[in-house]
Amino acid sequence: MPEQSVPDSSNAVQEQNPYGSAPAGPKRVRTRHFQNAKQNGIPITGLTSYDMLTAGIFDQAGIDFLLVGDSAGNNVFGYETTLPVTVEELIPLTRAVARAVKRALVVADMPFGSYEGGAEEALHTAVRFMKEAQAHAVKLEGGVRSHKQIKRIVSSGIPVMAHVGFTPQSEHGLGGHLIQGRGDAAERLIADALAVQEAGAFAVVLEMVPGSVAAEVTKRLEIPTIGVGAGPSVDGQLLVWTDFAGMTEGRVPRFVRQYANLRGVLTDAVHRFREDVDSGAYPAPEHNYE
Ligand code: KIV
Repeated sequence: MPEQSVPDSSNAVQEQNPYGSAPAGPKRVRTRHFQNAKQNGIPITGLTSYDMLTAGIFDQAGIDFLLVGDSAGNNVFGYETTLPVTVEELIPLTRAVARAVKRALVVADMPFGSYEGGAEEALHTAVRFMKEAQAHAVKLEGGVRSHKQIKRIVSSGIPVMAHVGFTPQSEHGLGGHLIQGRGDAAERLIADALAVQEAGAFAVVLEMVPGSVAAEVTKRLEIPTIGVGAGPSVDGQLLVWTDFAGMTEGRVPRFVRQYANLRGVLTDAVHRFREDVDSGAYPAPEHNYE
């Protein structure tokens, strides 16, 4: 994806990529490359990942950052929402993703209940993700309300990706999966985005925000905006991998484009395996050890 990756002013060496052309840009994506990308109008790409297999594939394809999202609550642990997932559950997933990547920036999502208590609690959690899971940055939800937490973490040398708009950890407070920033609420959303920038975040996720409002936020901010359901006028795009690859069962949000039907491929494969075992077609002679 030569023109779609975060650029690097240092002319870093590219590595061989077995999945196609080597990604353009830096040998290892750093937060400063996000800033370069915004300045040069080059889109940033991000996907969630919760394991080493998908992390390796996404990394080699040149995805700029991998978010070990608390959406693992739904997509790995089978909870109905992201609220029950814990730091203890996310640390091993983050470690696996961090081990698998060579180039992408790995962002660890701080789960509900691990930072709302104040700046020191937030720092404690962020340090755990950096130290025990080897994440490269952390993400937390909230704008104005998370200002002091972001400031404290950043002042300790840990990069923070902020997250405003629809924040799934507050889905009960927000009254459901609702688009944020419509009408009069646009000013509040802009204030949230400006607050996280002021606190020192290196980028901000805008989730389920009208495209016109996301465009305005992107214009007003110096840090890059990463859209997930925020239209085209942002600095980067993030998707949940199980949604974009067609693994998710049932409805996916309207903003998702499904690039594959992995659920269909896997379902077909598992049916054929079962039928072959039932009929005796598997294992065949070539699968036997002599
Ligand atoms: O956990 C997650 O996957 C997220 C993205 C949807 C932004 O926070």
